Amino acid sequence: MQNNTFSGLFVGHNLITLKEVDSTNTFLKDAVSKSTPLLDGTVIMAEKQFAGRGQAENLWQSEAGKNLTFSILLNPSFLNVDGQFELNKAISIALNDVLIKYIPASAFIKWPNDLYIRTKKIGGMLIENIVQGNKIKYAIIGIGLNVNQEYFPTNLKNVTSLKQELHQDYDLMGLLGEICSAVEARYLQLKGGSLKKINDEYLNLLYLKDQWASFKFDGRIQNGKIIGITDIGQLILKTENETRVFNTNEIEFLN
Ligand code: BTN
Repeated sequence: MQNNTFSGLFVGHNLITLKEVDSTNTFLKDAVSKSTPLLDGTVIMAEKQFAGRGQAENLWQSEAGKNLTFSILLNPSFLNVDGQFELNKAISIALNDVLIKYIPASAFIKWPNDLYIRTKKIGGMLIENIVQGNKIKYAIIGIGLNVNQEYFPTNLKNVTSLKQELHQDYDLMGLLGEICSAVEARYLQLKGGSLKKINDEYLNLLYLKDQWASFKFDGRIQNGKIIGITDIGQLILKTENETRVFNTNEIEFLN
């Protein structure tokens, strides 16, 4: 099914909704690899994903028809490969822009790009880049947001949804439209070169920034305080004895 009812300049103008797919990211990746002509800002949305993918090879579990599971295709060829975390920051802030309208003062970004309401995860994103030379030719921005789901499988700990927080149902298409507008605005801000503003906002929204908390690294539980992010998106943590830099697979949050 296709429609083009979204109000921004380009994100969501070409919206393809699927009843069921393995993963909207995989669908878009396959389409791009087959050189299917797709407009910048194309959105693939699925009512149900039967093999939704999360970060670190995890599955993304989402009750069919209750939540948002979609992917946006962008052509950020203005970004070098080593600038890919800039896009992560811009899109994370865009989602936070939408969440704070519903839940003011309680929405945060947990490094690198989980969406948190207080101490619980409400959504996440999986950004997959297709590189040509030194440039990002395509970015596939996969977004999962828990909206109307009330009950979660017991293996999913520390998760929430808009419904769990606010006790009402939300119109998925309306919310998708808001997210597309916010993504477009932040993407254009990035394209316009406002890197410092985006970086400052990302740091201001960072979950547990400047707070001592428990983390697991080097095989044991240790205290640390997040003090920043490197240019390529690594976490900078002050520990009791030193300042350390971590990649995503090297550290686990325990709070
Ligand atoms: C994470 O927090 O682990 C990232 C979750 C990303 C899930 C979304 S749902 C739509 C898109 N398709 C996928 O297979 N994954 C992303």
